[in-house]
Amino acid sequence: MTRRKLVAGNWKMNGSRAALAELDGIAAAAAAAPNVDVMVAVPFTLIAPAADRAPTLSIGAEDVHEADSGAHTGCVSAAMVKEAGARFTLVGHSERRMDQGETSHDAWAKAAAARRQGLHVISCCGETEAERDADRAERVVQAQIEKSVPDNADGSWFTLAYEPRWAIGTGRTPTLEQIAAIHAIARAKLRTLIGDAADGVRILYGGSVTGDNAATILACDNVDGALVGGASLTAAKFVPIITAAAAL
Ligand code: PGA
Repeated sequence: MTRRKLVAGNWKMNGSRAALAELDGIAAAAAAAPNVDVMVAVPFTLIAPAADRAPTLSIGAEDVHEADSGAHTGCVSAAMVKEAGARFTLVGHSERRMDQGETSHDAWAKAAAARRQGLHVISCCGETEAERDADRAERVVQAQIEKSVPDNADGSWFTLAYEPRWAIGTGRTPTLEQIAAIHAIARAKLRTLIGDAADGVRILYGGSVTGDNAATILACDNVDGALVGGASLTAAKFVPIITAAAAL
């Protein structure tokens, strides 16, 4: 089963209207890499101007609320981000799990809400450093997948991202063997949940991906792309990752 590589950026709480100029170079690189899907998740306030500026890129949200509408002050629904121009959303990012106390069940509910609006979903999982040190990484990731992946998930709208928390923004990455081991376990877990559809679901690696390490990480078994934080903020840093994916 061949799965198209997917390189997704996550700007987190960074960026500004001026920073959207970076999307020009990213869109050009994406156009030059027709065998790779390129997505960029931006803060809510930048979705509409980003989608206007880069109509050929898939612009997304970093989170959505699990309800379609209602009395949820300060929250934003999947329908709202879609109307603003988002084509996808992240759910269950470890920073939201840490900062907002979100759970795998929340990620499941948010994925379902996004699906109701026809958005693509990138659902994140990954162990903490303490869990890795206690040899629990595999069990933690399996449990997160079990609780967060909707029954009707398939590759047409659902992507999983394995992001060990201790590798995010730290410049540290797992060994290629550790990445391949977790991705194999994630694939097997998906198979128990959604059967053959698991073969079509892309599993991204995230955590300190750069232009320097992308080629070797992306070449690992069951690594179908990358979710990129810091190195997605500028075209100069993000384009080499797109180019590395295109060369595989
Ligand atoms: P990083 O972030 O590439 O800056 O480590 C990845 C992520 O959190 O998605």
